[in-house]
Amino acid sequence: MTDGPSYGFDTLQIHAGARPDPATGARQTPIYQTTAYVFRDAEHAAALFNLQEVGYIYSRLTNPTVAVLQERVATLEGGVGAVCCSSGHAAQIMALFPLMSPGKNVVVSTRLYGGTVTQFSQTIKRFGWSATFVDFDDTDAIRVAINDDTRAVFCESIANPGGYITDLDSISAISDAAGIPLIVDNTSATPYLCRPIEHGATLVVHSLTKYLTGNGTVTGGAVVDSGKFDWSASDKFPSLSQPEPAYHGLKFHETFGPLAFTFNSIAIGLRDLGMTLNPQAAHYTLMGIETLSLRMERHVQNAMKIAGWLETHPAVAAVTYAGLKSSPYNDRVARICPKGAGGLFTIALKGGYESCVKFVESLEIFSHVANLGDTRSLVIHSASTTHRQLTEAQQVAAGAAPNVVRISIGIEDAADLIADLDQALTKANA
Ligand SMILES: Cc1ncc(COP(=O)(O)O)c(C=O)c1O
Repeated sequence: MTDGPSYGFDTLQIHAGARPDPATGARQTPIYQTTAYVFRDAEHAAALFNLQEVGYIYSRLTNPTVAVLQERVATLEGGVGAVCCSSGHAAQIMALFPLMSPGKNVVVSTRLYGGTVTQFSQTIKRFGWSATFVDFDDTDAIRVAINDDTRAVFCESIANPGGYITDLDSISAISDAAGIPLIVDNTSATPYLCRPIEHGATLVVHSLTKYLTGNGTVTGGAVVDSGKFDWSASDKFPSLSQPEPAYHGLKFHETFGPLAFTFNSIAIGLRDLGMTLNPQAAHYTLMGIETLSLRMERHVQNAMKIAGWLETHPAVAAVTYAGLKSSPYNDRVARICPKGAGGLFTIALKGGYESCVKFVESLEIFSHVANLGDTRSLVIHSASTTHRQLTEAQQVAAGAAPNVVRISIGIEDAADLIADLDQALTKANA
């Protein structure tokens, strides 16, 4: 595809980054299943290693199939570049790595995927980093939490598991004023429903594992760079603005301008952390993205119908779907996620923990699995699974209390899904 005027989302999700294979004319992006690439000569090899010429050296850093995916995800998000990696969790570390150093902190929302809460509250401490958890609906609390050692602000656009929508405009105004980047996990929304960069995000992270691949076949992640942050405006980001000792003194921002973060993530992050996405996984994700808009439209349509039906069911105490008029987050849909509030939400059952367990065991079309964003409808009792490492207070803050079940609505017939939920709720209440 040539750099067209301004193609629409449906065109870009199929074509961005891809072109017929120059060697064979293959129309579909080939899986370049290779570890290394032959250098033309010693001078070419030296230029690649010096980052004076862009090209392929070794697939831990770059691979042509992965490169197409990187360009496609960056284009759909409206970023200047992207780096793919081995999982959504890897993407979070890859996003923080160039920004952080021992003693520095990141201010994060309490409404996050449970695994991310654990990564931020426990594991990153081993790097000497820390996270301060704040209710991101309380903007004053975010301002108070940011201090001289804060190097980033982190939230999810549509938060897992509750499907709550974060007011990205208010949050980016705060991070901008503090001179630090805003990182938004856009996994549950995808760029079809929400484009965080248009709301001031500096970096967007994804678990490709979810809606972007869309059918539960891949574990992968991506970090998209908006290219808009001035890494040299302060002395807070020496890996990007100062001579980088791990790359013979190269100044990434001075050398690569808006692509500084992307080049740093490849040349240092992937090179030294090695959280690489394999080309086979990139291929599956490229296949998935070709139908992203169609799937997301159906996820949203089904979720609207099913959440509305659940809200009136006598066994259900609460439904968190932001698409419902009753949701406190409903007024953010039009502004932050104009094409809909996604397919992810939770329900609270009046029968409590026991009822939730019976409910998930009685479902027939819905699968009881630790995943979301599949064409298939999925369900999980977060408190006993994904969020079980958290304290009860953290579970409640994350929207995963013991009487709560998370639902990821697929793209099957809505009537069949409603019938399945109905019979399972009857059994759960018996
Ligand atoms: C919102 C969100 N972000 C990140 C992740 C982590 O992604 P991965 O499982 O690909 O590491 C998940 C996983 O469920 C998620 O739901």
